[in-house]
Amino acid sequence: MSGVGEVSGANRYLSGAKLLEEAFSAKEKAYAPYSRFRVGAALLAASGKIYRGCNVENASFGLSVCAERVALFKAVSEGERDFAALGVAGDGEEYCVPCGACLQVLAEFNPQLVLFLANRRGESVEKRLDELLTAVFSLDRQKVSSNASGNRQGLKIKNSPEGA
Ligand code: THU
Repeated sequence: MSGVGEVSGANRYLSGAKLLEEAFSAKEKAYAPYSRFRVGAALLAASGKIYRGCNVENASFGLSVCAERVALFKAVSEGERDFAALGVAGDGEEYCVPCGACLQVLAEFNPQLVLFLANRRGESVEKRLDELLTAVFSLDRQKVSSNASGNRQGLKIKNSPEGA
């Protein structure tokens, strides 16, 4: 597989550094008056374009949106569907790991997305999305029947989320 947005080989280091640079710039735009924790994200699309996002908080706290989803929604609304890598920069001492909700939303488009995660000093780690989110909710896997509503017959609880 090849493409402008591919993150492999020699491109890998360059992509990671560039994405984190963009993520740190995006962090400057964060609107985080409540948590005071700013986050920036930069998402590399297969087209080669990079989409930035920052967290946008709200007085009604639950309405706040993370930087990663802002970047993804900007990109998808511009017609992008294929993504290669994401850089995330946070204000904290620890590498900024995306929350579970963002991982689920990102996995919709690429469960193998490469993640470059930085702390406030610019130190970073590289992860793959499916390392962090081992089970994704997929409607296809639910095999929902037309008369399924309210039917709890056959409810089984198994250990593996894959077998649910
Ligand atoms: N936040 C992000 O934007 N991305 C993350 O990966 C983790 C958390 C935001 C949400 C909220 O505005 C603030 O950081 C504190 O949780």
